[in-house]
Amino acid sequence: MAGNVSAPGQAHWSSKGAFVLAATGSAVGLGNLWRFPTEAGSNGGGAFVLLYILCVVLIAMPLLLAESLIGRHGQRSTVASAAYLARQSKASPMWSVLAVIGLIANTAILTFYCVVAGWVVYFIGTSAADLVGAVSAGTPLAGAYAGDSVEQIQQLMPTLFANPALLVGLQLAFVVITTWIVARGVKGGIEVAATWLMPAFFFLLIAITVYAAITGDFAAAVAFLFTPDFERALQPGVLSSALGQAFFSLSLGGGAMIAYGAYASRDTNLAQTSGMIAFADTAVAIIAGLAIFPIVFMVGMEPNAGPTLMFQTLPAAFHAMPGGAIVGLLFFVLALFAALTSSVSLLEISVGWVTEKFGVSRVKAAWSLGVLVFLIGLLSALSFNVLADQRPMASVPGFENATWFDAIDGVTGKLLLPLSGLVTAIFIGWVADRKLVNGETGLKGGGLKAWRFLIAWLCPLAVAAILVIGLFPQLLG
Ligand code: PFF
Repeated sequence: MAGNVSAPGQAHWSSKGAFVLAATGSAVGLGNLWRFPTEAGSNGGGAFVLLYILCVVLIAMPLLLAESLIGRHGQRSTVASAAYLARQSKASPMWSVLAVIGLIANTAILTFYCVVAGWVVYFIGTSAADLVGAVSAGTPLAGAYAGDSVEQIQQLMPTLFANPALLVGLQLAFVVITTWIVARGVKGGIEVAATWLMPAFFFLLIAITVYAAITGDFAAAVAFLFTPDFERALQPGVLSSALGQAFFSLSLGGGAMIAYGAYASRDTNLAQTSGMIAFADTAVAIIAGLAIFPIVFMVGMEPNAGPTLMFQTLPAAFHAMPGGAIVGLLFFVLALFAALTSSVSLLEISVGWVTEKFGVSRVKAAWSLGVLVFLIGLLSALSFNVLADQRPMASVPGFENATWFDAIDGVTGKLLLPLSGLVTAIFIGWVADRKLVNGETGLKGGGLKAWRFLIAWLCPLAVAAILVIGLFPQLLG
């Protein structure tokens, strides 16, 4: 296409499949396994899931296409790609603010993401020790933590939280691995990891779900997740949580999808790939819910247990499962890889920008940003012990009780990502050159018309409304 020249040295995925897998690797992560069940559990189950699916189909998927086309057209860092499309459309390069918000939000997300991934590393450690014990006792096919009661297994998390040095050490370990991969150049590492690990992850998740369905209280879980509660669904908090989760889970909000789109080749049909990524991501989230909630109900936990839900239920499932010691270890290793393919994309956003903007090497950029992410992440890591009493946003309605961890998660998920999405929708729907944009989508006829309607009208209006309602719930009385 005229005027679309790759920036010098721009890398590309080796195939369309590799792009889909890497982007799915970015989308599928702790957001699906850990955040989705947490949010669904705290927001009334069925009410949340219904809104979530609506948000994905009507808002997130059109935006996923918009973001990947900005990247593919620009072939540069996220901020530069947005500015490039603006200039080509004879609009102000200030529209790249959508990517600046995204850059800040996604770097902030990475700070607490590494903390949660550190918990996954912890469970790899305890599962590995448990498996070694089972093997040396001559019972390699035992359930996980065979000698412990369910109560003891649920104490693993509180025990970890009572040990700040260990928490910070695990967080540091994950920051280092993420930074190391990004510093080496993402393409080879991510592509290879995504190609092998995503399918393996998917199959194992299904196996665990089938097991949970057979042994746990599957009927209660299905009823909890799929009985729509319209009254609850209309509560402003539930709406903005569902939208925030859709953005988080699909890696939207001015970041990863622009960055990864920039490595996609011209013959990739972005509408098709966006559909595939959104479908895979949503399927994994729902399957994760169906793996976790039967066990929540079976062991008598409350579904609104918050961020520790996954870490207290799944080990209990592996405990009850023949061969659970092996499956448990495998699951947490795969969860770690899912987290890594996401965290690498989170760091890549700022590394791409810093190398381009300041002309420093990728290695220097990655390690400097890695240090920054670690230091800010300490606030989240310590939110569960040393800083547990701090309420940084005590005077902000809706955030009165938020710890540092909750505050950074909430502000990015409920405010910054949707804000960036709003600006993106207005930019692509109204400002950017129509012909150029339409040509990038791979859509024609009715599909193109529908997408243009969603991106120009529904996305901006719905996201703006949800943002305002989420920020000022008192407006609804
Ligand atoms: N989508 C990832 C997950 O669900 O775990 C998290 C994420 C990755 C958010 C990349 C934003 C992003 F740019």
